[in-house]
Amino acid sequence: MTTLSDETRATFADIRARIATIPRVSLALTPTPLHEAPQLARRLGGPRIFVKRDDLTGVALGGNKTRNLEFRLAHALRDKPDVVIVGLDLQSNSARQTIGCCNKLGLSTILVLEGKIPNEIQGNLLVDYLLGADVRFAGDRDEQRRMLDDAASEVRAQGLVPHILNDNPMFDVASAIAYIECTMECLEQLATVGATPRTLYMSSSGKGQAGLVLAKRLFDASFEVRCVTATREHSVPARTAEIANRTAARLGLELRISPDEVVNFEGYVGQDYGIPNAAGNEAVKLFAETEGLILDPVYTGKCAAAMIDHIRRGEFDRQDVVLFIHTGGVPAIFTHHHLWGRP
Ligand SMILES: Cc1ncc(COP(=O)(O)O)c(C=O)c1O
Repeated sequence: MTTLSDETRATFADIRARIATIPRVSLALTPTPLHEAPQLARRLGGPRIFVKRDDLTGVALGGNKTRNLEFRLAHALRDKPDVVIVGLDLQSNSARQTIGCCNKLGLSTILVLEGKIPNEIQGNLLVDYLLGADVRFAGDRDEQRRMLDDAASEVRAQGLVPHILNDNPMFDVASAIAYIECTMECLEQLATVGATPRTLYMSSSGKGQAGLVLAKRLFDASFEVRCVTATREHSVPARTAEIANRTAARLGLELRISPDEVVNFEGYVGQDYGIPNAAGNEAVKLFAETEGLILDPVYTGKCAAAMIDHIRRGEFDRQDVVLFIHTGGVPAIFTHHHLWGRP
C-alpha cells in the first residue's frame, strides 16, 4: 500500500532531478532501513515510533556524514587529489566516515585532530587508526589550521596533489541536500506501511536540519521537524535558515526559510558538548533494552532524551506517528564505556 499522492511524487521527481545536476560519487548504502520500534513505544506508553537507520549508511560504522560526503568528495575529485587532508575534533564521527569514504575512493588521508592524544585509544579515534589515516594532533584551532597547510605543503613536496577538505565549500549545502533526500526516503518508506508522520526528531545543529525544514516546505508536508542540538556553539535557528536558503538557491528554488520556522531544542545538551548526561544516558539504555538499538551518549542519546521527555509530558496521542532519525555516532559508547560496563 502506498499513500503518497501523485503531486508529492511529482515534486520528489523534480527535486531529485535538481539534485542530480550536482556532481556526486556513490558511497552510502541507501535507502537506509526504516522500521517500527513497538517495544520502545509500549514502554513509553506513547505514540507509534519509527526509526530511520542512518547509522547504517555502510561505511566505517556509518552515520549521517556518509550521505554528504558523496557531494563533498565529488567536489574534491575535481582537483584530482592523491591525499585528502582534514581537520576535525578528537572524537569526530565525521572524521571516521571521511577516512572510510576516502579509502573507498583510493585516496590517502591525513587527519589533524584538535586535542591531545588520549592515554586510551578508543571510539572514533580507534577506527581512524584502523582505517589507516595518518593521524596528527593539534593543540587548538589555530595550530590545526597551520598543520593543515603544512600537511598540504608536505604532500606537494612529494610531487602529489593535496585537497584540504576544510576549504571545500560544500559541507553545509551537501548536508542539507542529503537530508532532503533522506526525508524523501522516509516518506516513501512510511507510505508503504500507510503511516503519516506527525513529528520528525533528529540530532542536528543546523546542517541536516536545513534539509528537513526544506523538505517540509517543498513537499507541503504536515509533519513538524524537531531537531535537538548537541552543542551550544551556534545559534541554530539562524544557522539552519541560512543554510536552507543557500541550499534552495543551489537547487534553483525560489523560497526563503526564516529562523522562526526552525524548531531546535538546546535544553538537552546538559553541561556541554561531548559530555554525556543522565537523560541522554537513560535514552541510550532504553533504546538498547527495548529494541536492541544502539544510540550514542553525545548526539543521538540527547535527541532521544528530548523525544522521550515530550512523550512523557503527553504531547502525543497513541495513534500519532513519530519518526526518530538515527544519525549514527555509535563508536562513542566505547569512549564512554564506564557508563555501560555494569548492570
Ligand atoms: C552522530 C551525529 N548526529 C548528529 C550530528 C549533527 O549533524 P548536523 O549538525 O551536521 O546536522 C552529528 C555531527 O557531527 C553526528 O556526528
